[in-house]
Amino acid sequence: MLIRLNRYLSMCGVTSRRKADRLIEEGRVRVNGEVVRDLGVKIDPEVDRVEVDRREVKLPQKKYIILNKPCCYLTQLGKSESGKRTIEELIKDVPVRVFPVGRLDYNTEGLLLLTNDGELANRILHPRYKLPKVYLALVKGRVSRNTLRKMRNGTELEDGFARPDDVRIVRYEGENTLLEVVFHEGRKHLVKRFLAVFGHPVIKLKRIALGPIRLGKLPPGRWRELSERELRQLFSAVGLKYSP
Ligand code: URA
Repeated sequence: MLIRLNRYLSMCGVTSRRKADRLIEEGRVRVNGEVVRDLGVKIDPEVDRVEVDRREVKLPQKKYIILNKPCCYLTQLGKSESGKRTIEELIKDVPVRVFPVGRLDYNTEGLLLLTNDGELANRILHPRYKLPKVYLALVKGRVSRNTLRKMRNGTELEDGFARPDDVRIVRYEGENTLLEVVFHEGRKHLVKRFLAVFGHPVIKLKRIALGPIRLGKLPPGRWRELSERELRQLFSAVGLKYSP
């Protein structure tokens, strides 16, 4: 893919696009050994060697990780104004800066994908690709077969109709029920709001899968990199081709 030289320099973290233009005009940027002063030049990052002041600059390595977010962490980077803990402290040892793809509520646990690949993130968040998100929801009360049928037909919420791709009873736990719920949308508090309509407020919520990626046995608070196989499956689920 061809990209403008100034954009490439900013993607590499060298400087802003505007300041990159100045570096180019000053003759400090070389492409394949030749000084380039033309601001319109495009390069192919896979083929061309770009240098600033004779030092090669490269795109940051793409990183894809999943975190098992524990309860009581905000899905945000940096410090929170409220003083609540944020996932930042759980991913401090990730060697490059990655960003959460979507959010889990403060008290929701489970699978959170983080990456510095903007294109993949955009596709995952785009409803067009209908990537299923699978949740285990412990709800108050015993969900009857009749209510389960109604849940499957969907219901009106304040921001529009909501219908899960699937909902099933995993087991009864005393006076409560463990449900598996699948939605491909990512509206705010969707699972909690949806289940509350049926008189079964959520006690505990955990996301266990995102498309082909499963949380598995990853302990709470820990992260791991996605395998090449998982990446191939994830890319293909959103219409992209993974090339390592
Ligand atoms: N639905 C919710 O209600 N909360 C989440 O964190 C995710 C989905």
